[in-house]
Amino acid sequence: MSLTLQKEEAHTKKRVPHLGGVQPADAPTSVVNWVAEIAKLTLPESIYWCDGSPEEYDRLTREMVESGTLIRLNPEHRPYSFLARSDPDDVARVEARTFICSKRPEDAGPTNNWREPNEMKATLTKLFFGSMRGRTMYVIPFSMGPLGSPMSKLGVQVTDSPYVVASMRIMTRMGSAALNLIREDTVWVPAVHSVGAPLEPGEKDVAWPCNTTKYITHFPESREIWSFGSAYGGNALLAKKAFALRIASVMARDEGWLAEHMLILKVTNPRGRIFHVAAAFPSACGKTNLAMMKPTIPGWKVETLGDDIAWLKPGRDGRLRAINPEAGFFGVAPGTSPKTNATAVETLWGNTIFTNVALKDDGDVWWEGLTDEKPKHLIDWQGNDWTPESTTPAAHPNSRFCVAAQQAPSIAPSWDDPNGVVLDAIIFGGRRSHNVPLVVESRDWEHGVFMGATVSSERTAAAEGRVGELRRDPFAMMPFCGYNMADYWSHWLEMGQRLRQSATVPRIFQVNWFRKSADGRFLWPGFAENSRVLAWILDRVDAQAAAKDTPLGLVPTADGIDRTDLNVSEEDWIELFSMDREAWFEELNGTEEFFENFGEKLPAALTEQLADIRDRLTKH
Ligand code: OXD
Ligand code: MN
Repeated sequence: MSLTLQKEEAHTKKRVPHLGGVQPADAPTSVVNWVAEIAKLTLPESIYWCDGSPEEYDRLTREMVESGTLIRLNPEHRPYSFLARSDPDDVARVEARTFICSKRPEDAGPTNNWREPNEMKATLTKLFFGSMRGRTMYVIPFSMGPLGSPMSKLGVQVTDSPYVVASMRIMTRMGSAALNLIREDTVWVPAVHSVGAPLEPGEKDVAWPCNTTKYITHFPESREIWSFGSAYGGNALLAKKAFALRIASVMARDEGWLAEHMLILKVTNPRGRIFHVAAAFPSACGKTNLAMMKPTIPGWKVETLGDDIAWLKPGRDGRLRAINPEAGFFGVAPGTSPKTNATAVETLWGNTIFTNVALKDDGDVWWEGLTDEKPKHLIDWQGNDWTPESTTPAAHPNSRFCVAAQQAPSIAPSWDDPNGVVLDAIIFGGRRSHNVPLVVESRDWEHGVFMGATVSSERTAAAEGRVGELRRDPFAMMPFCGYNMADYWSHWLEMGQRLRQSATVPRIFQVNWFRKSADGRFLWPGFAENSRVLAWILDRVDAQAAAKDTPLGLVPTADGIDRTDLNVSEEDWIELFSMDREAWFEELNGTEEFFENFGEKLPAALTEQLADIRDRLTKH
């Protein structure tokens, strides 16, 4: 099944009559009954079953161009690509409106918004009643992970947004092939989505229908997702954060695996040894850049398997294996440039849906950072004229591209291996101006779990909140863990014990590309130069690099990281690894306070790690 329209195919394509969409004769009863039930509640004008074909995608995008939801970009510059402009009040994930509806509040835990499931269902039933009036309800069967892989999971989303259908086709394996995998006894996750903007007879639609009331709700016990009022990103493409992280994290706890907010890389060293690495970073820390990096050090090669989500499961040999459950990238556009991520820029040559970027006069797209020189005139993300003198950004800071993973020139052939890849190392990172060194290796799995549990990051514009404010984001899962975060830490600790019994356990590291000097300069150039840090990490795995013990863990020796041709002064290098004892005692006090939120559920192993680091710092 081709995910993208081939060039010749699209040039010669005539308008095809709308024949698709009927319920397949052999559709499983469980899905048919559920679709009927949701239709009875939401009262759509029609129901359309998606087959996932290129013709269907072509037809839907044409219809959206006609209705004004999409703008077709100039095919000379950006073939088969579109621009969507959202409602200005629907531009990001809304964490305050995201709920975990477990029966007991303690199963959602102190870091999630909790609602009693029956109470939430009552609220949702009122909101969803008639919410699809005047619209088509699309039925999207999808597979998270390669079709038929033992590590994959199936789902069905219904939505009244054709923009969501087109995006889901890029982000997942969707359509008939996924539906065919659902037998009567197959477990699949139902996901209901409505923009919450019913149309009265004769009422003219708007380009981006949505509702000021928003609910992104998850029912971990019944494994259901209900989302109302938003058509943007993770709020609406329910396969992504809602399923592949929040619901999947609960499935993973119950079934003995891990659903993580991690990119996956394949790295080949100059000696030809292949490694696989998974890395968790809070939103807006450059995960897509790392996933697509071109190393600056000779002989090293990096290939992409995923840029956002990883499912990790012990294989038959006991080793931890990873798959990317997604099929596309939904990346932040601003800041993506030939300098910061040449591979992403190449990936976006065509077949891409952009949302909230700026439109150039030549019918191509632009965003802040794409070129050094700003275009003289643009139409901004809100549809207004824009010039370099304008005081507002041309592209929204959280504007996105949505493109098939297989279009990345850096994609590893193994990216859709149904058996996944064996993981050698796990990395935790955050955006930290102070305290956290460039790279630290954990002493063991438990110390690594402590590193994961203490991830924190300074906020950027991609999430809600004050820019620069420090946000705790354990395992980069704060907004995405579908159950009590302390139980999740216990699950990680148990997984370590289980892995250790039968095989080599991935080594765990912590990185920080964002440390600053006292006068506010970044101490490390970042981006492709991060390959030097990656090389040290993998040389450690390969037993080729020495390390120095410190209270925080193992760090490179003075010559451990290749700094040839790197413009980092000796002073800055020392500063990148400096540990201010007082600042660290303060940091650990903050960690202790944070841990206290979890009461009795906090695993003893984490309290012990905290005490151990304090002790080491005292003796240092
Ligand atoms: C994302 C996020 O969009 O983490 O991937 O917010
Ligand atoms: Mn993410």
